[in-house]
Amino acid sequence: MIVAVINNKGGTGKTTSSVNLAAGLVRQGYRTLLVDLDSQASAALSLGISREKLEPGMSEALMDGMPMEEVVKPKVSAGLDVAPGGMDLANLDLNLADIPGREKRLNIQLQRVADYYDWIVLDCPPSLSLLSVNALVASDGYLIPVKPEYLSMEGLASLNQSVLRLKKGMRRAPSMLGVLLTIVHPSSRAAREIIQRVRQGYGENVFQNYVRQDVRLLEAPEAGMSIFDYAPRSNGAMAYTRIVKELLERAAKG
Ligand SMILES: Nc1ncnc2c1ncn2[C@@H]1O[C@H](COP(=O)(O)OP(=O)(O)OP(=O)(O)O)[C@@H](O)[C@H]1O
Ligand SMILES: [Mg+2]
Repeated sequence: MIVAVINNKGGTGKTTSSVNLAAGLVRQGYRTLLVDLDSQASAALSLGISREKLEPGMSEALMDGMPMEEVVKPKVSAGLDVAPGGMDLANLDLNLADIPGREKRLNIQLQRVADYYDWIVLDCPPSLSLLSVNALVASDGYLIPVKPEYLSMEGLASLNQSVLRLKKGMRRAPSMLGVLLTIVHPSSRAAREIIQRVRQGYGENVFQNYVRQDVRLLEAPEAGMSIFDYAPRSNGAMAYTRIVKELLERAAKG
């Protein structure tokens, strides 16, 4: 199963969720690859890959056609394989502007390794650029992390519309795995109200479980670890454990 973790809004917990869902899937015994599609390479860096070791990464795979097998770094963290992002991904739109089939490049690369993995998790950048389009084209399902704050509902509605428009042009469109509420401030009345509105508006399409604000989740990337290695008993680790289970159930339902 290939899942795109997507939201064009910045700072909604995409990278944190990608890293910890991928790490959580490994803990459940699934062979998992985390693909970092961000020019900031946050996913790779937060699992302790040093800056010098980011290359070759996804920009080589997507722009130069370097085979995916050569880009994947095996067993980076507790059995998790990672394909790093990198600065050059920021130029992908420009560099591939005139190239036919540019939106299928990731799909073609992932097909090379797809048989080897049970799960491939795609950490998307905060835009609906060519990278996110490639991610949607390549994926079986997509998951939308949302931080409950002012304008979240508007952002979610417009993202949904854009994704639906993109899906129309696809031969095999990915399914919506769900909206995941993240960085939830439990005692904030405003956050509670927004969560209620998201659940009213999106019903079954919202994960039952959500991720609270947890300083451990903020600290783990600096230590280069997933939350399960950094703070296994933290609220964040328990939340992502439950969310992995729910993801497995949702994926099985199709
Ligand atoms: N549940 C949480 N509790 C506290 N801090 C969190 C939590 N989830 C994420 N963070 C922190 O919030 C910031 C934004 O999270 P993250 O990088 O995962 O979002 P993103 O959507 O990937 O951002 P971008 O759009 O820039 O790629 C990071 O500093 C991260 O460590
Ligand atoms: Mg990110």
